[in-house]
Amino acid sequence: MLDVRSDAERRWVHLPDDRHVPIHLLPREATALPHDRPIVTYDHFGPDARRAAELLRSRGFDSAAALEGGIDEYARIVDPSLPRYREGEGERGLLLQQLPRPDTGCLAYFLGDPVAREAVLIDPGVDTDPYLEALRGGAWHLAAIVETHTHADHLAGHSSLHLATDAPIYVSRRSPAQYPHRTLSEGEAIDFGSEELRILETPGHTLDHLTLRVRDSAFVGDTLLIGTCGRTDLGDGSPEMLWDSLTGKLMRLPDEVEVYPAHFGPCHSLPARYVSTIGFERATNEALNQPSREAFVRYMTEGWPPKPTDFEQIVRANLEG
Ligand SMILES: [Fe+2]
Repeated sequence: MLDVRSDAERRWVHLPDDRHVPIHLLPREATALPHDRPIVTYDHFGPDARRAAELLRSRGFDSAAALEGGIDEYARIVDPSLPRYREGEGERGLLLQQLPRPDTGCLAYFLGDPVAREAVLIDPGVDTDPYLEALRGGAWHLAAIVETHTHADHLAGHSSLHLATDAPIYVSRRSPAQYPHRTLSEGEAIDFGSEELRILETPGHTLDHLTLRVRDSAFVGDTLLIGTCGRTDLGDGSPEMLWDSLTGKLMRLPDEVEVYPAHFGPCHSLPARYVSTIGFERATNEALNQPSREAFVRYMTEGWPPKPTDFEQIVRANLEG
Protein backbone atom coordinates (compact mmCIF):
# COMPACT_ATOMS: atom_id res chain seq x y z
CA MET A 1 0.00 0.00 0.00
CA LEU A 2 1.44 3.36 -1.04
CA ASP A 3 0.14 6.51 0.64
CA VAL A 4 0.45 9.41 -1.84
CA ARG A 5 -0.91 12.13 0.47
CA SER A 6 1.10 15.00 1.90
CA ASP A 7 2.74 14.77 5.33
CA ALA A 8 -0.04 16.92 6.78
CA GLU A 9 -2.82 14.73 5.37
CA ARG A 10 -1.10 11.57 6.55
CA ARG A 11 -0.50 12.86 10.06
CA TRP A 12 -3.62 11.49 11.78
CA VAL A 13 -4.54 8.33 9.88
CA HIS A 14 -2.69 5.87 7.67
CA LEU A 15 -2.79 2.15 6.88
CA PRO A 16 -0.46 -0.15 8.82
CA ASP A 17 2.77 -1.34 7.11
CA ASP A 18 2.38 1.03 4.17
CA ARG A 19 4.90 3.19 2.33
CA HIS A 20 4.63 6.93 1.95
CA VAL A 21 5.59 8.96 -1.13
CA PRO A 22 3.64 12.23 -1.57
CA ILE A 23 2.23 12.43 -5.10
CA HIS A 24 4.38 15.46 -6.06
CA LEU A 25 7.52 13.44 -5.29
CA LEU A 26 6.36 10.30 -7.09
CA PRO A 27 7.88 11.09 -10.54
CA ARG A 28 11.29 11.35 -8.88
CA GLU A 29 10.99 8.53 -6.35
CA ALA A 30 9.14 5.91 -8.42
CA THR A 31 12.42 4.26 -9.37
CA ALA A 32 12.93 3.20 -5.74
CA LEU A 33 9.64 1.26 -5.64
CA PRO A 34 9.67 -2.55 -5.97
CA HIS A 35 8.71 -4.18 -9.28
CA ASP A 36 8.18 -7.63 -7.78
CA ARG A 37 5.11 -6.76 -5.69
CA PRO A 38 1.72 -5.26 -6.58
CA ILE A 39 1.39 -1.58 -5.63
CA VAL A 40 -1.92 -0.12 -4.51
CA THR A 41 -1.88 3.65 -4.16
CA TYR A 42 -4.20 5.42 -1.75
CA ASP A 43 -5.16 8.87 -0.59
CA HIS A 44 -8.03 10.12 1.53
CA PHE A 45 -10.97 9.79 -0.87
CA GLY A 46 -9.49 8.40 -4.10
CA PRO A 47 -8.69 10.94 -6.85
CA ASP A 48 -4.97 11.48 -6.19
CA ALA A 49 -4.51 7.73 -5.81
CA ARG A 50 -5.95 7.20 -9.32
CA ARG A 51 -3.56 9.79 -10.78
CA ALA A 52 -0.64 8.19 -8.92
CA ALA A 53 -1.51 4.67 -10.16
CA GLU A 54 -1.72 6.01 -13.74
CA LEU A 55 1.70 7.60 -13.38
CA LEU A 56 3.18 4.37 -12.01
CA ARG A 57 1.70 2.31 -14.86
CA SER A 58 3.28 4.73 -17.35
CA ARG A 59 6.61 4.06 -15.65
CA GLY A 60 6.38 0.29 -16.06
CA PHE A 61 4.57 -0.70 -12.86
CA ASP A 62 1.95 -2.55 -14.93
CA SER A 63 -0.17 -3.81 -12.04
CA ALA A 64 -0.29 -0.54 -10.07
CA ALA A 65 -3.87 0.18 -8.99
CA ALA A 66 -5.65 2.72 -6.82
CA LEU A 67 -7.70 2.08 -3.69
CA GLU A 68 -11.16 3.24 -4.81
CA GLY A 69 -12.77 5.55 -2.26
CA GLY A 70 -9.47 6.04 -0.46
CA ILE A 71 -8.67 5.30 3.16
CA ASP A 72 -12.04 6.75 4.16
CA GLU A 73 -13.97 4.08 2.23
CA TYR A 74 -11.53 1.41 3.45
CA ALA A 75 -12.31 2.39 7.05
CA ARG A 76 -16.02 2.42 6.29
CA ILE A 77 -16.18 -1.01 4.68
CA VAL A 78 -13.09 -3.10 5.46
CA ASP A 79 -11.77 -1.98 8.84
CA PRO A 80 -14.23 0.05 10.90
CA SER A 81 -11.77 0.34 13.78
CA LEU A 82 -9.47 2.49 11.62
CA PRO A 83 -9.97 6.16 12.54
CA ARG A 84 -11.61 8.31 9.90
CA TYR A 85 -10.48 11.88 9.48
CA ARG A 86 -12.59 14.87 8.49
CA GLU A 87 -10.81 18.07 7.59
CA GLY A 88 -11.71 21.34 9.22
CA GLU A 89 -10.57 24.91 8.81
CA GLY A 90 -6.79 25.36 8.95
CA GLU A 91 -5.27 22.83 11.30
CA ARG A 92 -8.61 21.79 12.69
CA GLY A 93 -10.12 18.41 11.97
CA LEU A 94 -12.12 15.56 13.45
CA LEU A 95 -11.16 11.96 14.12
CA LEU A 96 -13.99 9.46 14.24
CA GLN A 97 -13.34 5.87 15.25
CA GLN A 98 -15.76 2.99 15.57
CA LEU A 99 -14.92 0.56 18.35
CA PRO A 100 -16.76 -2.69 17.57
CA ARG A 101 -17.16 -5.51 20.10
CA PRO A 102 -17.86 -8.60 18.00
CA ASP A 103 -18.79 -10.75 21.05
CA THR A 104 -21.77 -8.52 21.89
CA GLY A 105 -22.38 -6.88 18.50
CA CYS A 106 -22.01 -3.45 20.11
CA LEU A 107 -20.40 -0.35 18.66
CA ALA A 108 -18.84 2.37 20.78
CA TYR A 109 -17.51 5.59 19.27
CA PHE A 110 -14.43 7.69 19.85
CA LEU A 111 -14.53 11.25 18.53
CA GLY A 112 -11.57 13.55 18.90
CA ASP A 113 -10.20 16.92 17.90
CA PRO A 114 -6.63 15.85 17.13
CA VAL A 115 -5.15 19.33 17.54
CA ALA A 116 -6.73 20.11 20.91
CA ARG A 117 -6.38 16.38 21.91
CA GLU A 118 -9.89 16.51 23.38
CA ALA A 119 -12.17 13.51 22.90
CA VAL A 120 -15.58 12.10 23.73
CA LEU A 121 -16.62 8.46 24.01
CA ILE A 122 -20.12 7.32 23.12
CA ASP A 123 -21.65 4.12 24.56
CA PRO A 124 -18.46 2.56 25.96
CA GLY A 125 -18.68 -1.13 26.88
CA VAL A 126 -17.83 -2.63 30.24
CA ASP A 127 -14.29 -3.64 29.22
CA THR A 128 -12.70 -0.21 29.35
CA ASP A 129 -9.07 -1.29 28.80
CA PRO A 130 -9.07 -0.59 25.02
CA TYR A 131 -10.47 2.91 25.58
CA LEU A 132 -7.99 3.71 28.35
CA GLU A 133 -5.10 2.44 26.22
CA ALA A 134 -6.23 4.58 23.27
CA LEU A 135 -6.60 7.65 25.50
CA ARG A 136 -3.18 7.17 27.09
CA GLY A 137 -1.45 6.25 23.81
CA GLY A 138 -2.68 9.40 22.08
CA ALA A 139 -2.36 11.66 25.15
CA TRP A 140 -6.06 12.47 24.80
CA HIS A 141 -8.08 14.34 27.39
CA LEU A 142 -11.50 12.74 27.71
CA ALA A 143 -13.99 15.62 27.84
CA ALA A 144 -17.15 13.52 28.10
CA ILE A 145 -18.61 10.03 28.34
CA VAL A 146 -22.03 9.94 26.67
CA GLU A 147 -24.72 7.28 26.81
CA THR A 148 -27.24 7.38 23.96
CA HIS A 149 -29.68 5.53 26.25
CA THR A 150 -30.01 3.00 29.10
CA HIS A 151 -28.87 -0.25 27.53
CA ALA A 152 -30.80 -3.48 28.19
CA ASP A 153 -28.59 -5.88 26.24
CA HIS A 154 -25.08 -5.28 27.62
CA LEU A 155 -23.31 -3.81 30.62
CA ALA A 156 -22.13 -0.26 30.04
CA GLY A 157 -18.67 1.05 30.95
CA HIS A 158 -19.46 4.66 31.84
CA SER A 159 -18.81 4.39 35.58
CA SER A 160 -15.46 2.56 35.31
CA LEU A 161 -14.35 5.05 32.67
CA HIS A 162 -15.43 7.94 34.87
CA LEU A 163 -13.45 6.51 37.80
CA ALA A 164 -10.36 6.09 35.62
CA THR A 165 -10.49 9.46 33.84
CA ASP A 166 -12.70 11.76 35.93
CA ALA A 167 -14.59 12.66 32.73
CA PRO A 168 -18.25 13.54 33.37
CA ILE A 169 -20.99 11.15 32.26
CA TYR A 170 -23.77 12.68 30.17
CA VAL A 171 -27.21 11.12 29.79
CA SER A 172 -30.67 12.32 28.79
CA ARG A 173 -32.62 14.51 31.21
CA ARG A 174 -35.16 11.67 31.10
CA SER A 175 -32.72 9.02 32.33
CA PRO A 176 -33.42 7.51 35.76
CA ALA A 177 -29.62 7.05 36.25
CA GLN A 178 -28.59 6.85 39.90
CA TYR A 179 -24.85 7.48 39.42
CA PRO A 180 -23.42 11.03 39.29
CA HIS A 181 -24.16 12.44 35.83
CA ARG A 182 -24.97 15.55 33.84
CA THR A 183 -28.18 15.76 31.85
CA LEU A 184 -28.75 16.66 28.20
CA SER A 185 -31.80 18.13 26.47
CA GLU A 186 -32.80 18.79 22.88
CA GLY A 187 -30.66 21.48 21.27
CA GLU A 188 -27.84 21.36 23.81
CA ALA A 189 -24.26 20.52 22.84
CA ILE A 190 -21.09 19.08 24.35
CA ASP A 191 -17.88 20.83 23.29
CA PHE A 192 -14.66 18.94 22.66
CA GLY A 193 -11.78 20.94 21.19
CA SER A 194 -13.22 22.96 18.32
CA GLU A 195 -16.00 20.42 17.68
CA GLU A 196 -19.44 20.05 19.18
CA LEU A 197 -21.75 17.14 19.72
CA ARG A 198 -25.33 18.32 19.30
CA ILE A 199 -28.25 16.65 21.01
CA LEU A 200 -31.54 15.44 19.51
CA GLU A 201 -34.05 13.75 21.79
CA THR A 202 -35.29 10.61 20.04
CA PRO A 203 -37.38 8.63 22.55
CA GLY A 204 -38.96 5.34 21.52
CA HIS A 205 -36.45 2.50 21.86
CA THR A 206 -36.24 3.84 25.43
CA LEU A 207 -37.74 7.00 26.88
CA ASP A 208 -34.28 8.42 27.56
CA HIS A 209 -32.88 7.92 24.05
CA LEU A 210 -30.65 10.60 22.50
CA THR A 211 -29.23 10.93 19.00
CA LEU A 212 -25.91 12.76 18.86
CA ARG A 213 -24.76 14.76 15.86
CA VAL A 214 -21.33 16.02 14.92
CA ARG A 215 -20.89 17.61 11.49
CA ASP A 216 -22.57 15.26 8.96
CA SER A 217 -22.60 12.22 11.23
CA ALA A 218 -25.44 11.02 13.46
CA PHE A 219 -24.83 8.59 16.32
CA VAL A 220 -28.28 7.09 16.48
CA GLY A 221 -27.91 4.45 19.22
CA ASP A 222 -30.76 1.97 18.72
CA THR A 223 -33.27 4.51 17.37
CA LEU A 224 -32.21 3.45 13.88
CA LEU A 225 -30.28 0.29 13.02
CA ILE A 226 -29.09 -0.74 9.58
CA GLY A 227 -32.22 -2.10 7.89
CA THR A 228 -34.48 -1.86 10.96
CA CYS A 229 -34.67 -0.14 14.35
CA GLY A 230 -34.24 -1.11 18.01
CA ARG A 231 -37.04 -3.01 19.73
CA THR A 232 -39.27 -1.08 22.11
CA ASP A 233 -40.27 -3.78 24.58
CA LEU A 234 -37.21 -4.00 26.85
CA GLY A 235 -38.02 -1.27 29.33
CA ASP A 236 -39.90 1.99 28.98
CA GLY A 237 -39.93 2.21 25.17
CA SER A 238 -42.92 2.85 22.96
CA PRO A 239 -43.43 2.12 19.25
CA GLU A 240 -45.61 5.22 18.83
CA MET A 241 -42.86 7.46 20.27
CA LEU A 242 -40.26 5.72 18.13
CA TRP A 243 -42.28 6.35 14.96
CA ASP A 244 -42.54 10.03 15.89
CA SER A 245 -38.78 10.24 16.56
CA LEU A 246 -37.92 8.51 13.29
CA THR A 247 -40.30 10.47 11.08
CA GLY A 248 -40.17 13.76 12.98
CA LYS A 249 -36.42 13.92 13.66
CA LEU A 250 -34.13 11.46 11.88
CA MET A 251 -35.94 11.36 8.54
CA ARG A 252 -35.77 15.15 8.43
CA LEU A 253 -31.98 14.97 8.23
CA PRO A 254 -30.41 15.25 4.76
CA ASP A 255 -29.76 12.05 2.80
CA GLU A 256 -25.97 12.40 3.02
CA VAL A 257 -25.84 12.33 6.83
CA GLU A 258 -23.92 9.23 7.91
CA VAL A 259 -25.71 6.92 10.32
CA TYR A 260 -23.65 5.29 13.06
CA PRO A 261 -25.71 2.75 15.03
CA ALA A 262 -25.02 1.12 18.42
CA HIS A 263 -25.28 -2.45 17.10
CA PHE A 264 -24.20 -4.57 14.15
CA GLY A 265 -23.89 -8.19 13.09
CA PRO A 266 -25.45 -11.57 13.77
CA CYS A 267 -25.80 -11.20 17.61
CA HIS A 268 -28.60 -8.75 16.82
CA SER A 269 -29.77 -10.32 13.52
CA LEU A 270 -28.24 -7.35 11.70
CA PRO A 271 -25.96 -7.12 8.68
CA ALA A 272 -22.21 -7.11 9.40
CA ARG A 273 -22.07 -3.46 8.35
CA TYR A 274 -21.12 -0.59 10.55
CA VAL A 275 -22.30 2.57 8.88
CA SER A 276 -25.11 3.69 6.61
CA THR A 277 -26.63 6.98 5.47
CA ILE A 278 -29.99 8.60 6.07
CA GLY A 279 -30.69 8.35 2.32
CA PHE A 280 -29.93 4.62 2.16
CA GLU A 281 -32.05 3.88 5.22
CA ARG A 282 -34.87 6.08 3.91
CA ALA A 283 -34.90 3.97 0.74
CA THR A 284 -34.36 0.49 2.16
CA ASN A 285 -35.06 0.28 5.92
CA GLU A 286 -37.90 -2.16 6.66
CA ALA A 287 -39.12 -0.28 9.74
CA LEU A 288 -39.07 3.12 8.04
CA ASN A 289 -40.91 1.79 5.04
CA GLN A 290 -43.98 0.71 6.96
CA PRO A 291 -46.86 2.45 5.21
CA SER A 292 -48.41 4.07 8.30
CA ARG A 293 -47.94 4.70 12.01
CA GLU A 294 -50.38 1.84 12.71
CA ALA A 295 -48.45 -0.55 10.49
CA PHE A 296 -45.23 0.49 12.20
CA VAL A 297 -46.72 -0.21 15.65
CA ARG A 298 -47.78 -3.67 14.41
CA TYR A 299 -44.27 -4.23 12.99
CA MET A 300 -42.75 -3.32 16.36
CA THR A 301 -45.06 -5.51 18.43
CA GLU A 302 -45.31 -8.71 16.38
CA GLY A 303 -42.73 -11.35 15.51
CA TRP A 304 -39.79 -10.20 17.64
CA PRO A 305 -37.70 -12.84 19.43
CA PRO A 306 -38.54 -13.54 23.09
CA LYS A 307 -37.16 -11.00 25.58
CA PRO A 308 -33.73 -11.96 26.95
CA THR A 309 -34.16 -13.36 30.47
CA ASP A 310 -31.58 -11.07 32.06
CA PHE A 311 -32.51 -7.72 30.54
CA GLU A 312 -34.04 -6.30 33.73
CA GLN A 313 -30.89 -7.10 35.71
CA ILE A 314 -28.75 -5.45 33.03
CA VAL A 315 -30.91 -2.30 33.04
CA ARG A 316 -30.72 -2.15 36.84
CA ALA A 317 -26.93 -2.56 36.83
CA ASN A 318 -26.52 0.10 34.13
CA LEU A 319 -28.63 2.58 36.07
CA GLU A 320 -26.82 1.97 39.35
CA GLY A 321 -23.30 2.43 38.07
FE1 LIG B 1 -30.51 -0.48 23.32
